[in-house]
Amino acid sequence: MSDRNQTKAPLRVLFLSAEVFPFAKTGGLADVAGSLPKAIRKLGHDIRIVMPRYGFIDKDRWNLQPVTRVHVPMGDTVEEGEVYLTYLGDVPVYMVDNARYFHRDGIYAYPDDAERFIFFSRAALELARALDWAPHIVHCNDWHTALVPNWLKTIFKDDPFWQNTRTVFTIHNLAYQGVFGHRILEVAGLAQYGFIVHPELSHWDHVIHFMARGIIFADIITTVSPRYAQEIMTPEFGAGLDPLLRERADTVIGILNGIDTEVWNPATDEYLPQRYDVEHLEKRVKNKLHLQEESGLDVGEDIPLFGFIGRLTEQKGIDLLVAAAEDVVRHLGAQLVILGTGEEKWQELIKSAAAKFPRHVHAYLTFNNPMAHHIYGGVDMLLMPSRFEPCGLNQMIAMRYGAIPVVREVGGLADTVHDFDPRTGEGNGFSFRPYDRTALYTAMVRGVENWKHRDTWRQLQVRGMTTDFSWNRSARQYVEVYYRALSMPGHVPQRLLEKLHFRGAP
Ligand code: GLC
Repeated sequence: MSDRNQTKAPLRVLFLSAEVFPFAKTGGLADVAGSLPKAIRKLGHDIRIVMPRYGFIDKDRWNLQPVTRVHVPMGDTVEEGEVYLTYLGDVPVYMVDNARYFHRDGIYAYPDDAERFIFFSRAALELARALDWAPHIVHCNDWHTALVPNWLKTIFKDDPFWQNTRTVFTIHNLAYQGVFGHRILEVAGLAQYGFIVHPELSHWDHVIHFMARGIIFADIITTVSPRYAQEIMTPEFGAGLDPLLRERADTVIGILNGIDTEVWNPATDEYLPQRYDVEHLEKRVKNKLHLQEESGLDVGEDIPLFGFIGRLTEQKGIDLLVAAAEDVVRHLGAQLVILGTGEEKWQELIKSAAAKFPRHVHAYLTFNNPMAHHIYGGVDMLLMPSRFEPCGLNQMIAMRYGAIPVVREVGGLADTVHDFDPRTGEGNGFSFRPYDRTALYTAMVRGVENWKHRDTWRQLQVRGMTTDFSWNRSARQYVEVYYRALSMPGHVPQRLLEKLHFRGAP
C-alpha cells in the first residue's frame, strides 16, 4: 500500500467527553460530543464515544447493555469500572460506571473531581485494551480528559498497544482548566515523571494542571473556532496559558463547531407551537405571540422581542444585559426573555429586572429544553454579549430558526455573525466590539430599526435560515487533523521540551 492510500484508510477514533447530549449536559460541550461523532461516522470512520455513566443516566431509558469491566489504577489502589454500551445513531457510546465517583446529582464541581476524571480517562484507555481495539486517535475534550496525552507519552510510551495512537486535544473553554494539588500526581500515576516547570508559568510549579498538560502532550490541539484559536494566544484571552499555546502555535487549529441540524430544525421541531420553514416564514409569528403569552408579557406582533439563552456566568455578558435592560424597556419599548441557570448574583439581578418590568422582561431561571425551542422559534433577535466565546452554538441555532443574532465580536461569534450593513445589504446579524452596555444597547437599537423594515428583515432571516451550519464541513476538517496527527512522530516537540523542566514531587 502506498503512503497515499494509507492516509485514506478508515480510522479508529476513541472520543472522550465528560458530557454528551442527550445523556448528560451542562453546556455546549455536550452538544458537540453528541453531534460531531455522528458526522465523522458518516464519513466512514469507526469513531466511538466514551463518557461516564452518571447515576442519573437511566439504564432502561437508554438501553444500556453491560459489555465489560475495567480495572483502573488510582495511585495505590485499583478501582473497578463497569462499562455499558448504548448507541447514538450509529455511534457506539461506552459509559464507564463507578458508584463512588459518578452516582451523584450533577456532573461537576465536587471536591474529588480530579480523581473522578482521572478514573474516567484512564478507564477509557483500559477499555480500548479490554476490547482489543487500538485506536489511531484518542480525541480528548477539555481538561477532564487532558491527562490522556500525558499518559500516552509517559507511562504508555513503550507499550506496544499504544505505539501507533496519536492524540487530539480540543479546547472548548480555556476558562476551565482543572488545577489540583500535588497529591493528584500520584493518583494519576505520574509522580515518577515529576512536576512540569515552564519558565513563563512558574506559579504552576507545585500543582497539577490538567489543561496545561493537554496542551503540552497532545499531538494536535484544536479549539472550536478559528478566531478563538488566535485569541487564546494573547494575554487578553489566554487565561494564563497563552505562553504555552504560543509555543505550540503550529499545532493549534481552530475548527468551527456545527450544530445538529436534525435536533434543530424549525420544520420538524416538536416543541414548537407552530412549525415553519423558510418558505412559510409568515407562520413564525404564532410562536412569538405564544411566547409572549406564556411569559406573561404584553402580547403583540409589533413589540420587538429579544431572547437570551445560556449559562448565567461572567463569560456570557450577563452584566451587560442587566445594565442595558432598563434602556431596552424604557427607550426601545422592547421585550426580553431570558432562559438559563447559574450564579446566584446574576439570578438575583435578572429577577429584579423582571420584577420591575413584568410586561417586558421575563426570566426562566431553570434548565428547560422545550422553552429553549420556544425562544429560538419566537424571538426576533437573540442576544449573546459574551465577554469571550470559544464558539457559541446559540447564534447558529438562532439563525436556523430565523431569529437574528446580536453578538459581541469575539471568538466563534466573530466567525459566524457578520454585522449587517443596510447600505450594501451584507451581513447576517448585529455585532459590537467594546465590552460595555452602550455598545450592546447601540447594536440592539440598530437591530430594532432594521426589524421595522419587513423586507430587509425577511432577507436577513432567509439568509440565516439557508446557511449551512451542519457538521459536514467541520467533520472533514477534524478528519484531516486526525490524519495529520497520525503522521506526526508522537513526541513532545523538541523546542518545547528544552524549555520544560521536570522536577520531582515534593
Ligand atoms: C463551551 C464554550 C462555547 C462552545 C462550546 C462547545 O461551552 O463556552 O463557546 O460553543 O463549549 O464547543
